[in-house]
Amino acid sequence: MQHIQSYIEEHKDRFLNELIDLLKIPSISADSAYKNDVLKTADAIKTSLELAGCDHVEVCETEGYPIVYGEKIIDKNLPTVLVYGHYDVQPPDPIELWTSPPFEPVIKTTELHPEGAIFARGACDDKGQMYMHVKAMEFMTKTNQLPCNVKFMIEGEEEVGSVNLSKFVKNNQEKLKNDVILISDTGMIAKDVPSITTGLRGLSYVEVEVTGPNRDLHSGLYGGAVANPINVLTKMIASLHDENNHITIPGFYDKVENLSDAERAEMAKAPFSLEDYKKALDIDAVYGEEGYTTNERNSIRPTLDVNGIWGGYTGEGTKTVIASKAYAKISMRLVPHQDWEDITQLFKTHFESIAPAGVKVKVKPHHGGQGYVTPIDSIGYQAASKAYEDTFGTTPIPQRSGGSIPIVSLFEQELKSKTILMGFGLNSDAIHSPNEHYGVWNYFKGIETIPLFYKYFTELSK
Ligand code: BES
Ligand code: MN
Ligand code: MN
Repeated sequence: MQHIQSYIEEHKDRFLNELIDLLKIPSISADSAYKNDVLKTADAIKTSLELAGCDHVEVCETEGYPIVYGEKIIDKNLPTVLVYGHYDVQPPDPIELWTSPPFEPVIKTTELHPEGAIFARGACDDKGQMYMHVKAMEFMTKTNQLPCNVKFMIEGEEEVGSVNLSKFVKNNQEKLKNDVILISDTGMIAKDVPSITTGLRGLSYVEVEVTGPNRDLHSGLYGGAVANPINVLTKMIASLHDENNHITIPGFYDKVENLSDAERAEMAKAPFSLEDYKKALDIDAVYGEEGYTTNERNSIRPTLDVNGIWGGYTGEGTKTVIASKAYAKISMRLVPHQDWEDITQLFKTHFESIAPAGVKVKVKPHHGGQGYVTPIDSIGYQAASKAYEDTFGTTPIPQRSGGSIPIVSLFEQELKSKTILMGFGLNSDAIHSPNEHYGVWNYFKGIETIPLFYKYFTELSK
C-alpha cells in the first residue's frame, strides 16, 4: 500500500488531537452517574466513522448502552472484515494515585515510551486501540486503497460484560456476516517483539455474601460466642487454594486443556525476564501454582482471585463491632474447554457446602464468558503476521493472553468466523490501573500496520 507513512506524518497532530478529545469524555459504563457521557461517546464514534468514509453508520439502541455500527461495502464478492472495539472505560479509582487527572489527557515520556505516551483512562483500553482502526479506515478510503468490505461494531459495555452485545449479535447475524473479525484490545510483548494474541481466558465473576447475627454486635459482649462473618469469610476464601496454590473446588480442573511438553517448550521461547518482571512490580518473588512458569500461570492455567472484600468498620479510628455481614467479589479466569456456567455452578455448590453452622451464605453470579484459542495457520493469522513483518521488520510471536474478551467466543459460535487479535499495548501501560497510558509510537504503528492486514487478507482470500 502506498503512502501510509507519509499520510500519518501529514495528519499526525490531528490523529492525536482527535483521540485526546475522545479521551476527555468519561465513558464509565459501570457507574450510572456517567450515563450521558457514555451516550455522548457513542455519538462521537458515529461521527468519526462517517468522517472516516463509512457509508452507513447507525447508533443501535440496546437495553443498555448503544452499539455503534458502520460499514462500507464496495463489492459483495470481496471479503468482509468486521472490526470490533469498545468505547467504554473502567472507573478511574483510586483517583488520588493519578499523576494527572484521568479525563484530562496529557502526553508524557516514560522509560518505555521515549516518544511520549498519552495518559488518560481508556488511552490503551480501548479508545486508543479502537481509534487506530478508524484512522486506518480513513487512510484507506481517502487514498482509494480500501481492498475489501468493512464493518465496524463498537460497543459501550465491554467493561461490564457485553450482555446486550451478545443479544445484538444473536439477532443480527446477517448484518454482521463477515470473513474475519479484527480486534485491537490486547497487548504485545515489546516494541521490538511484536506478537499476535492467539488465546484469551474465559471468566466467571461472582459475589458472595456471608450473614451471621441479624445485627451488628458489640464485639466484647458477643465476640467469641457467635460466628463473625468476616472471620468466617476470610477462612472460607483461604481454603479455596491448597498449599501448592491449586484451586480446591471439586471438579474445577476436570476439563482444563493440558498443553503438551512440546507446546510448553514453544511457549517458553518467548522472551521474558523474571528479574525485570519483579522489578517492574516491586515484588521480591513471584507467587502461583506449583509446577508452572509465570507465563504459564497467567495464560494457560485457570485462576481464582478476590477482587474486593468488605464488611464491618473501616472508618477512622476504631470501633469494637462484629458485623452482621461480610462480602467479597471473586473472579475465576478460565482456560479453553472450561465452561463458565459449569464453573459458576461448581463454585456455588462448593462455597455453600463449606459454610460452617452459624452463618448463611449467598452466591450471586455476575457475568462470565468462555475462553478462546485461534490457530496460526488461518488466512487471518497469516495476513496479520505479514502485516507486522512489513512494519516491524520481524515475524510476530503467537502469544496466549491472560485477559478476557468474553464476546470473542460468542462471535465464533454465532458468526462462525475467527477473530484476529492485533494488540499494540504494553503490559506496563497500566490498563485498569491509575495512570493508564498508550504510547504515541504504538498508536501510529497500529495505524500503519492495520491497512496491511486488509491488503494481505484480501490477497490470501483469492
Ligand atoms: N481489553 C481488555 C482485555 C485484555 C487486556 C485482554 C489485555 C488481553 C490483554 C478488556 O477490556 C477487559 O478488561 N476485559 C475484562 C473482562 C470483562 C468481562 C470485564 C478482563 O479481562 O478483566
Ligand atoms: Mn478492552
Ligand atoms: Mn478492560
